[in-house]
Amino acid sequence: MVAREDINKLIEATDMYALVSPYVKLIKSGSGYKGLCPFHNEKTPSFSVSQEKHLAHCFSCGKGGNPIQFLMDIKNISFMEAVKELAKINNMELNIDDPNAKIEEERKKYYDLNLLAYNLFTRNLFMTNEGKKALAYLEGRGLDEETIKTFGIGLAPKDGKMLYKLLKESNFLELDMVDVGLVKNVNDNYVDFFVNRIMFPIRNERGKIIGFSGRDYTGSSEAKYMNTIESPIFKKNLVLYNLDLAIPAISKNNRIILHEGYMDVIATYRSGLHEVVCSMGTALTTGQIKQISRFTKNVILSFDSDSAGIKATYRAAELFIKEGFNVNVLKIDKTKDSDEFVKKYGLKTYYDYFNSHITTFIDYVYNDIINNLNVNDIFNLENSKKNLFKYLNLYHSNIVLEKYLNLFSQKIGVSLNALLNDYNKLNNNLNYEPEPIISNIPKKNKEEIYLYELRIFEYAKISKNKALEIDSKLEKGNNFVGFKPINERLWQELMNYYNIYDEFNEEDFITLLQSKNLYDDYYHMIEDNEKYKEKLDLPYSEIDLEECLNKLVSNSNKNKLNNLQKTIVEQSDLELKKELTIKKFQMRKKYERN
Ligand code: UTP
Ligand code: MN
Repeated sequence: MVAREDINKLIEATDMYALVSPYVKLIKSGSGYKGLCPFHNEKTPSFSVSQEKHLAHCFSCGKGGNPIQFLMDIKNISFMEAVKELAKINNMELNIDDPNAKIEEERKKYYDLNLLAYNLFTRNLFMTNEGKKALAYLEGRGLDEETIKTFGIGLAPKDGKMLYKLLKESNFLELDMVDVGLVKNVNDNYVDFFVNRIMFPIRNERGKIIGFSGRDYTGSSEAKYMNTIESPIFKKNLVLYNLDLAIPAISKNNRIILHEGYMDVIATYRSGLHEVVCSMGTALTTGQIKQISRFTKNVILSFDSDSAGIKATYRAAELFIKEGFNVNVLKIDKTKDSDEFVKKYGLKTYYDYFNSHITTFIDYVYNDIINNLNVNDIFNLENSKKNLFKYLNLYHSNIVLEKYLNLFSQKIGVSLNALLNDYNKLNNNLNYEPEPIISNIPKKNKEEIYLYELRIFEYAKISKNKALEIDSKLEKGNNFVGFKPINERLWQELMNYYNIYDEFNEEDFITLLQSKNLYDDYYHMIEDNEKYKEKLDLPYSEIDLEECLNKLVSNSNKNKLNNLQKTIVEQSDLELKKELTIKKFQMRKKYERN
């Protein structure tokens, strides 16, 4: 808590013009200032700022107030956070007794570690030779220097120990470096977790760096992106990338735009749509929805146009609607994702496309149904109908129901009455689940490879020697791809395990995993063993192991070549293009020899 009189002093000391002007273009008006309200859309200014009264608020929507209230509203932070922020701005020391402060105090070392890493990564990108290649890559993807700086993009050094040494010199404990996910322990050596990757800092809503995502840009690694492991400050399932930069626009436009990837967020942010966020490639969680609902109840989903993106759209929309959101969709069908759209057609075209192509979720569903409709196929017709019912039910609205049933009845040439009858009949029996509108084609190859990985883990449990033999053939676990990078990490832990124990014991292994927050991943693996039981229940043998290993290695080589090819296409620097092409030929030769 803070004393009342301290709060008053704080308010009195505030320069209102300086506080507000970064958010609102202010013009002199009477004894104070006026501007367009940052909290709602308007054409005539109703936002008023008074230096003497220390007020900044909107006469129209009522938001804002004294400087603390203003900060709370504009940054969507708590009272205490606003007080602290204002104290910092005014250079005042406060006597604060805040329970949250203790937790933040404990976390401070992690934020400090990330900040040091961030500084190294950005310096490395802009000021070194290796940085030049990475910059050329980013440029090839359409990012200018300003954007790179806005998003704090950097480059993890090639030298896989540089960050570790820097952190060590700065007197941080190894324990903390490992916990925050910047350093890992491999065979009793501390090395950097991220090596030679383009680094995207991940910030929380207050702008503190909680983790990183590193993108491979040389085409030499399997995993396109590698993310910080779960840590005391990094909970992947709760992350909304770019939320801190998006908050002012979310408040102002009263909506949020949800993309699938970082590059989509960055590309579309540049078009002027600042209320953009994405999750970390994971399915949307209710935790993320709760977070968003503190700012707005209007969401626009703009995922990739492939079947995974479509599936994710349906899933996310259902969850949002159930939480009372108004859901709209931007369907990107000219390219794979928004990033590619911007690259291909430019920022202005994207911006216009966005504004003219948003549809309500139910229109999106309806269009999908119509586009996949075949009135001559009874199964298709029945399934389309059931899908329509299913999504209409989300709205609990007779108006919505009747409107779309009417449209559909005309489309298929059946009376509204007949449709309504079917609707009532089916709704008495809620157990039906229609086939998805766009039946998703399962990624067969990926699943097959995953099965090999599961088998290999079983082989590795037989003995330490067997495990070490596999490890060397798999280039230290680097050929796992099924559910990357989960298996790769579990494999590392299995190796760490064998460093301590000579025989595999499940309980001990689980204890080790629990200490590193990896138990959930292992649990999924056990579940999958059960799920694929029939396919895995083949005799284990040396020949079989050999075959599993070969499949994994050749699949991994194929992926590496594909990634490299994509990188070559993305590269704008001709010299580098040539260099990479030569590398590709060498790589292919080497793989063919093996
Ligand atoms: P995408 O494969 O669509 O990536 O994955 P992207 O954003 O288009 O990236 P670029 O354009 O190829 O660089 C969407 C998101 O899934 C997560 C990342 O958060 C990514 O932005 N992801 C993807 C991973 O975490 N790991 C991966 O290996 C791939
Ligand atoms: Mn992309």
